[in-house]
Amino acid sequence: MKRFVVYASALCALFISAAAVTAADDPIAVRKALMQSNAASAATSGAMLKGELDYNPAVAKAALATFNASAQAYGDYFPEGSETGDDTTAAPAIWENPEGFQEALGKFQADVAAALEASGKDGPADLAAFQQTVGPVLSNCRSCHEDFRIQND
Ligand code: HEC
Repeated sequence: MKRFVVYASALCALFISAAAVTAADDPIAVRKALMQSNAASAATSGAMLKGELDYNPAVAKAALATFNASAQAYGDYFPEGSETGDDTTAAPAIWENPEGFQEALGKFQADVAAALEASGKDGPADLAAFQQTVGPVLSNCRSCHEDFRIQND
């Protein structure tokens, strides 16, 4: 039993360090994955706003929580040296104007925090409340992409 615990925790440490190495080695992959999680939550939110998916407060809350997690983590994955490669669409402006990028990221974080705060423990009560809280959050996608992402579509 004891041996099993030692083995399990060694294995665990191995997984954790493997994850850390991956993140450090490939910040572009991590920041793309974070954006893909934003895209999935934006799609779910959009489907509810358009009435294609029945409104569900718990689903709405999960979307806001996902935006929050990505907004909090996102700024860590733009080290010097990750300006190019791996089909990144990050614009040079991120490194040329770091204060501006920080400001855009800060606004996204603040809008998500406000939305989470307004939605309470169980999520926005109805679709109208969700629209009001998620609207400002979703406006950040386009505005940040306009300034800090290479537009190739
Ligand atoms: C603070 C700036 C910022 C905000 C806010 C932001 N994005 Fe992004 N997004 C970026 C940057 C920079 C990239 C390019 C990352 C790369 O390719 O290295 C990107 C890339 C993407 C991608 C492409 C990912 C890939 O696999 O190449 C998607 C999809 C995306 N964003 C969706 C969203 C959605 C949806 C939102 C709003 C909920 C959002 N983004 C908000 C900056 C932002």
